Parts: sequence; C-alpha cells; structure tokens
Amino acid sequence: MSIVVDRLRLVGAPGTNKVMAGELSRLVRAGLRQRRLPDPQKDGLGALAYPFDAEIALLAAQYHRTAVRVLWDLYDSRAERLEPLFADLCPAIAGDERAYGWDGARISVETFGVEGFAAGERQIVGVVKNALVEAFATRGVRLTVAPSGPDLLFSVRRYDGRIVVSLDLAGRPMNERGYRMRAGPAPLREDLAANLVMLTRHDARHEALCDPMAGAGTIVIEAAAMARAHPVWMSGRKPAALSWPVFAAHASARPEPLFPDTRPVLFGCELDGDAVERMRENFEAAGVSEDVDVFAGSFADLAPERLIARAQARGVETGVILSNPPYGERLGSADEVLRLYRELGEWCRELPGWRAGFFVGNDAFPEAFGGRPRVMKPLKNGPLRAAFYLYDL
Ligand SMILES: C[S@@+](CC[C@H](N)C(=O)[O-])C[C@H]1O[C@@H](n2cnc3c(N)ncnc32)[C@H](O)[C@@H]1O
Repeated sequence: MSIVVDRLRLVGAPGTNKVMAGELSRLVRAGLRQRRLPDPQKDGLGALAYPFDAEIALLAAQYHRTAVRVLWDLYDSRAERLEPLFADLCPAIAGDERAYGWDGARISVETFGVEGFAAGERQIVGVVKNALVEAFATRGVRLTVAPSGPDLLFSVRRYDGRIVVSLDLAGRPMNERGYRMRAGPAPLREDLAANLVMLTRHDARHEALCDPMAGAGTIVIEAAAMARAHPVWMSGRKPAALSWPVFAAHASARPEPLFPDTRPVLFGCELDGDAVERMRENFEAAGVSEDVDVFAGSFADLAPERLIARAQARGVETGVILSNPPYGERLGSADEVLRLYRELGEWCRELPGWRAGFFVGNDAFPEAFGGRPRVMKPLKNGPLRAAFYLYDL
C-alpha cells in the first residue's frame, strides 16, 4: 500500500484546533477569494490536516499566526519499527514525482512526539535521513545532511500509531517571527498570544484592545497583526518554501497585509520600567508603535473612564481587555497575587459593555477576580497548566 500522502498540516499548542481552523478560513477568504477550503481532519488536540493546495499552503506559511508549524505531509507509514519504516520510505521517495528535492539541497530531520515508537529519536532521524539520501541518489539527485541551516527541514511526527514525514514550509517554528527584540522574564509565546486574541473574538474595526499588564507587549503586537492579517515574518525572515524550486510558480513578491486599511486601537499598560522599555522596542520592531498608547505604571492608576475616553477619541465605543497576569511564582506571597486579581476585577467592572479575557496559571484566579466567566478553557502555557477565562463586563 502506498504511503505517499499530500496534505497541509497545521500544528499548534494543545487545544487550539478550532482557532487554527478559524484563522485559516479567514486568511483564505481574504487572500484567495475563489478558493474553497475543505474541512480539516483533526489529529489529536493540536494538529489539523487539509488536502494539499500549494497556494493555501504558502498563504499559511506566510500569514498563519496561531499555528506553531505549517507542514507539507509527504509520507504516512504504519511501520512500528525501524526496518519496516526504511522499507516503506525508500521506494515511496524514489518514485515520488513531486520535485521537492534538488541536487545539492541540504537537509535536516527533526522528530516530535515519537516516544511510543520502538526506537529512539536519533535512530528515527538516522533512518529517515538515509532513506531520503539513498532514494534521491537513485534519481541522480544528491542531498547532503546539514544539521543547522538546512534548505529542507523534514519533520517526523507520530499520530495514532502512524509515522508522518513532512516538510516544514516555514523552516522554523512560526512563533519565531523576528520582532521580539527582548522578551523579559515571563514572555508569552507569540502563537499563544494570537490564539488568545482569536478567543476573545476581538473585532478591530469596532473595538479597542488593552493589555493592562503587558510585559514585553506580545498580546498587543499580535492583536495589531491579526487586525491587519499582517505577514508573520519580520527582520528579513521568510518561509523556507518560498525559496524552493517546487513552488517557484507560486512564490509571489513581498507579501502585504491582507487588511491594510484596518487601524487598530490598542493600549499597553505595564508597571515595570524595564519591561516598558522592552515593550516599546518590540512595538518599534513590529511596526505597531503608532497603533498603541503606552501607559507606564500600574493599571490601577489608569482610570477606566480615561481608557474609555481615549478609545472613543480614536473612534471606537467599546473594547476588550486581554492579559496574561502574573501567576504568583515571582510575587512575594499568595495574598499579594490574590489582591492583584481582586483589584483587576474591580478595575474591569468599571468598563461596562467591554469583554475581558485572561490567560492565567493560578486556579485561585476566578474566585479572586469575581463574577462568572462566560468561557473557561484549559490551555497549557508551555509545560504549565493554565486556563483562559472570558468575561462579559
Ligand atoms: C506574565 S507577565 C506578562 C507577559 C506578557 N504577556 C509578555 O508576553 O511579555 C505579567 C506582567 O504584569 C506586570 N504587572 C504586575 N502588576 C502590575 C500592575 N499592577 N500594573 C501593570 N502591570 C503589572 C509585571 O510587571 C509583568 O510584566
């Protein structure tokens, strides 16, 4: 049975499938109007697979903010040991008509989540590399192995007992966007920040967005970028696939925002002076400084009526509070963090008609904040157990 497959795979943090699918639909509607996006297949909690379409795949590799990886699935094997995996891969690669490899291309192979397989990660990497090099050699195409800076980064993942070999269309994690100059002590991963913006359903045409404890400003930057559907990559970065001969016909000029006319109304407030400096640097690097009013100080000193007035002066009547407050591990005592959550609850309730979303890894948050969340969604923050809470104020 052939193990050759042709799929676009989006991989994200666990619990993000719905948001990732929603974002891809939005991008396709905005960027490829005539195209119909089929429903994806889910592979667990953080992976979606679509039939492969080169234009949609390149759109995702350039614009998709809530995924961590955008992949092109090539082979899907049920082998459970190394020898059958090699035996599956070699003929499939040798007979593959998709010209993704070229003479002299440098390749590298990474594995993720292959713990259940009857061999170690290094052995799997070795077998996949050997299969690629040997199979391409039978066609007179020489691939060389380059552990860093490869032209083609292959990804090997295990889903439901299958080994899936894919090409990484971006060539790096999608969250390494290139705008975060300095991250600070507790930065939120960029793709998670984008997920939070989607979960609040922020509508940048009619609503402000304020992060009252903004740290390095990741949530605010992602909100600005989502509002315009801005390309992911900055500082001269671009998806690896744009340099591959196989996509030469599709690789267009420099990508532009898909909603360039949106003028998001954003606010970032931060207590710590160093963090404010980092936030400003990151806003500059991300090109969003003009969208954001920065308040240096405690949110408690930013009167809600002042925030409302500033938002109205910039043309919006209502808004969204979205933040990733301290969890407590760096604060002096448990009482101190509970006091902060209580104060935040009181502050938010002076913004009637707004919504408020919080991503926090402290189970005591909802009780201290007060009121009833409309949404409570468990969502991991790296290795930490956390949850997203959404309130109607
Ligand atoms: C978990 S960090 C936020 C990280 C941020 N999402 C990022 O990506 O960099 C929490 C931030 O809240 C700030 N903070 C704590 N108390 C505050 C207060 N009362 N007003 C404003 N900021 C506060 C801390 O200085 C810290 O930078």
